[in-house]
Amino acid sequence: MSRIEKALEKAAKMRQEKNENSNTNLIPALKVSTIERERVTFRPSPYLVTLTDPTSSVTEEYRKLKARIVKITKSRGFLNTIMVTSSIGTEGKTVTAMNLAITLAQEYDHTVLLIDADLRQPDIHRHLNTESQKGLTDYLLNKAELSDILLKTELERLDVLPAGSRIDNPVELIMSDRMKGLLHELKHQYANRYIIVDTPPLLPFAESHHLASIVDGVILVVREEHVPLSNLKEALQILKDTNILGVVYNNATLERFNDNYYYYYERYRYRQGDGDKE
Ligand SMILES: Nc1ncnc2c1ncn2[C@@H]1O[C@H](COP(=O)(O)OP(=O)(O)O)[C@@H](O)[C@H]1O
Ligand SMILES: [Mg+2]
Repeated sequence: MSRIEKALEKAAKMRQEKNENSNTNLIPALKVSTIERERVTFRPSPYLVTLTDPTSSVTEEYRKLKARIVKITKSRGFLNTIMVTSSIGTEGKTVTAMNLAITLAQEYDHTVLLIDADLRQPDIHRHLNTESQKGLTDYLLNKAELSDILLKTELERLDVLPAGSRIDNPVELIMSDRMKGLLHELKHQYANRYIIVDTPPLLPFAESHHLASIVDGVILVVREEHVPLSNLKEALQILKDTNILGVVYNNATLERFNDNYYYYYERYRYRQGDGDKE
């Protein structure tokens, strides 16, 4: 190939790249949505009730949570980066983050990105049928592009960023400028997208305290008869200067609620599931 031919080919390639960039008008890391990949499905789980049992009373509670979150987060601007945390482990952070993300994505108005930032006990990928091993840690270590690790799910409006490779020093990565930059970029990427961040518990680790200062709002999960009151008070103290959007009381004993509550849900169930009983 002559030098002129080479130059012409180079110019054509540059024109093509320029067109691609001006078409998307996005910085390279954010060209994610243009890459078409197979969508991953969710593994059947009794905890993902918003998918498996859309007419259940528990699903209805998640829808109420979603409605409140939408109302609060849209009352002043758009507080779209939201983390889910708890005082100690196994209070239901992942279950809550996933069901909230699913109900938000089921609504026509929003797209959702669910991020697994619990690098201590990453769990979101376990709920997905995926072989992918890479995720947030690989991005933060500069070992992967965002476009290579984001997973599209069977829900059209829900993408997932899994935790990725296991590492020894999660606190450093979560507190890095790259993590802050990522959340900032993602926050401004699309006008109507929620970023839901699953995180480690507050008391044993430092990451969530830091994350709470760089997201727009915090949801605190409190599991009934699981967390001692002193731990809960300590967690609230840690969060005192952050924007707590609400508390999710998880695994609650239904007997605590009155008869009207039951009646309401029974009616709801019949109406949705079995028309002739209503
Ligand atoms: N509402 C609930 N009802 C019954 N079990 C629950 C509930 N929420 C959580 N669990 C149990 O706790 C476990 C941990 O939940 P998970 O969301 O992974 O907690 P975390 O992310 O806070 O560690 C679940 O696998 C499940 O066994
Ligand atoms: Mg978890």
